[in-house]
Amino acid sequence: MNSTKVFHYFDHNATTPVSREVQEALPEIVSAWGNASSIHWAGRQPKNIIRDARKIIADNIHAHPLEIIFTSGGSESNNTVLKGLFDYYQTGPFVSADKKHRNHYMCSAVEHPSVMKTMEHLKALGAEVDYIPVNRKGELDMEFFESHLSERTALVSVMSANNETGTLFPIKELAKKAHAVGALFHTDAVQMFGKLPLNVRDLDVDFASFSGHKFYSVKGTGFLYVKKGNNVSSLIHGGAQERHRRGGTENTLGIGALGVAARRLSTVAEKAKELQTLRDYMEKRILAEIADVTVTAGETARLPNTSSLILQGVDGETMLMSLDIQGYAVSTGAACSSGNPEPSPVLLAMGLTRAEAQNSLRLSIGWETTLAEVDGFIEALKTVVQRLRTLNEGEGDSYHV
Ligand SMILES: Cc1ncc(COP(=O)(O)O)c(C=O)c1O
Repeated sequence: MNSTKVFHYFDHNATTPVSREVQEALPEIVSAWGNASSIHWAGRQPKNIIRDARKIIADNIHAHPLEIIFTSGGSESNNTVLKGLFDYYQTGPFVSADKKHRNHYMCSAVEHPSVMKTMEHLKALGAEVDYIPVNRKGELDMEFFESHLSERTALVSVMSANNETGTLFPIKELAKKAHAVGALFHTDAVQMFGKLPLNVRDLDVDFASFSGHKFYSVKGTGFLYVKKGNNVSSLIHGGAQERHRRGGTENTLGIGALGVAARRLSTVAEKAKELQTLRDYMEKRILAEIADVTVTAGETARLPNTSSLILQGVDGETMLMSLDIQGYAVSTGAACSSGNPEPSPVLLAMGLTRAEAQNSLRLSIGWETTLAEVDGFIEALKTVVQRLRTLNEGEGDSYHV
């Protein structure tokens, strides 16, 4: 990296920086090298680290520590719920005849690929899957949801917040409706956790997925909430770790880091207000100072840090690269699919045109983003957009057409 260049990070929905608290705690956690399953002295320290992390995390989401399963992240948690429930209903002991008959799964049309592709996998295994449409405002088609929900529905999976637009879904209401027909409810809370307070008890969900690298902890870590009384087959068969629910020697370092990061979330409600003030300021200035910009789902309840913009006539990838040269990290779609020139499937599913999706930019600020950085970013964006639009016009490709 160029040492004189200053870097600014506006891509917190892709991943967050590892917090100073986590970085400082890592050497001590790594020194607890024993196997947490060992009953001798070497196992005690890692066991305590894992126990403490489980308690902090459970308290944070209002769960019981035994309802937390540590995983390698959001993708594994999502896979575990979907494949694990499908398998459990087919092969698990003590599964009632009613549950064995349930072969219908539903999710929103804008889920993360770790849900979408797993649903496709279940379909290939014989499940019936419905995707609940989402409109331009990011709202779920409740009529579709209710009319497709039935006594054959095994599970409904709807994310708490969308990674690209930040739109929030009515999880409590959806879970209640799913429960009314005896179906279970899962929410992918990967983007919500660390940005807004979250209470699984109040939402009354059966399963919820979380990822460490979205709340200032390390990558390859996460957890799954499984409400007491619910069962899913283990994705990883092996030892008796996580009470037989996830085989493999525990990742003490990663789990300890999750605990340290979760401790900082006690201030999440205040941080959310600060983020929203800064995000709203940023959007207001962009809308006032750059022509032909719209905020996708701007009127809908959203995460406080996310802004998904359509800048008419400017290619998202080109904008991203131009801003990168100036030290600003942004995204055009989900980072998980970057390198893929196709427009974002989420934006297309919301009914945006291919051109609109290709002209989109996702900005996601974080706890360390400053007003000065936002001001600097807006100036950089104005220059980039003006230059690219002038270039387009020079090539006879007026963005107004
Ligand atoms: C909504 C959502 N779910 C799941 C994931 C996957 O999480 P992980 O990277 O921990 O597997 C992501 C990551 O971008 C996400 O945004």
